Amino acid sequence: MIIFKKAADLRHYLDEEKKSKRSVGFAPTMGALHRGHISLLEASKKDNDITISSIFINPAQFNDPTDFEKYPVTIEKDIYLLEKAGCDILFLPLVAEIYPDGFNNHKQYDLGKLETLLEGKFRPGHFQGVCMVVERLLNIVCPGKLYLGQKDYQQCMVINRLIQLMDIEKDTTLVVCPTLREPDGLAMSSRNMRLNEEERKRAVAIYNVLTSIKNYLQPSSLITIKDKAVEKLVAKGFRVDYVEIADAITLEPVTEWDGRQKLVALVAAFNNEVRLIDNMLIN
Ligand code: PAF
Repeated sequence: MIIFKKAADLRHYLDEEKKSKRSVGFAPTMGALHRGHISLLEASKKDNDITISSIFINPAQFNDPTDFEKYPVTIEKDIYLLEKAGCDILFLPLVAEIYPDGFNNHKQYDLGKLETLLEGKFRPGHFQGVCMVVERLLNIVCPGKLYLGQKDYQQCMVINRLIQLMDIEKDTTLVVCPTLREPDGLAMSSRNMRLNEEERKRAVAIYNVLTSIKNYLQPSSLITIKDKAVEKLVAKGFRVDYVEIADAITLEPVTEWDGRQKLVALVAAFNNEVRLIDNMLIN
């Protein structure tokens, strides 16, 4: 695996490779890698000649400074895992390489409702920060395919929108890979590394709540089913940001289900200090 720290060096290398029309798959990450990330690389390796990953903990997307400070950093293990997974290139930039002019006075991305719904509402500015870094990374890597996990459902929608805003739909296709789960159902996430034993046991309640929403779904009002899910999480000791059942395409909340509309259930809740998110396509 070749490690690049400078955008210009990576671009120069890829320009040479592209002369021989080699296809590029890209899985951006913030490190603290787990099997979910590795599944993105595996998907890319199947589809492309060159697989690239990046590790960059993007300060611009953390609305909560403590979350940024406590974000797990496991760079040596990450490099080992990427090598083992057969990743061809790792882009490992410093903040100044990504944001030479800083990141405070940046342009605004028109994300429509995605900016104010769910994660957009509870993490103001988060998706603007995600768009900043992903735009920069896409301009450097210019991948044919971009691999992201369904675990960050709304982020996938935001990045699809970013691809439209950048007018690169013809060049770059977003591939959304399924969420990988631990044996008890907990969605794999870098933030799980911050959970102590008791919190880790409790964390599975999020998956259980999503599963029971799926099992009890009926074409009728969805208010009770949502309220019950919140109650269950609160009873387990979570501080709940939201439990929502939404249209799987638009992410607009759905309160009355006609039995046909495609739905996704989404949860964000604090397990003590650690905010966890998960989602499930429920019909
Ligand atoms: O999902 C993540 O790890 C990050 O939000 C991403 C897409 C790498 C941008 O920093």
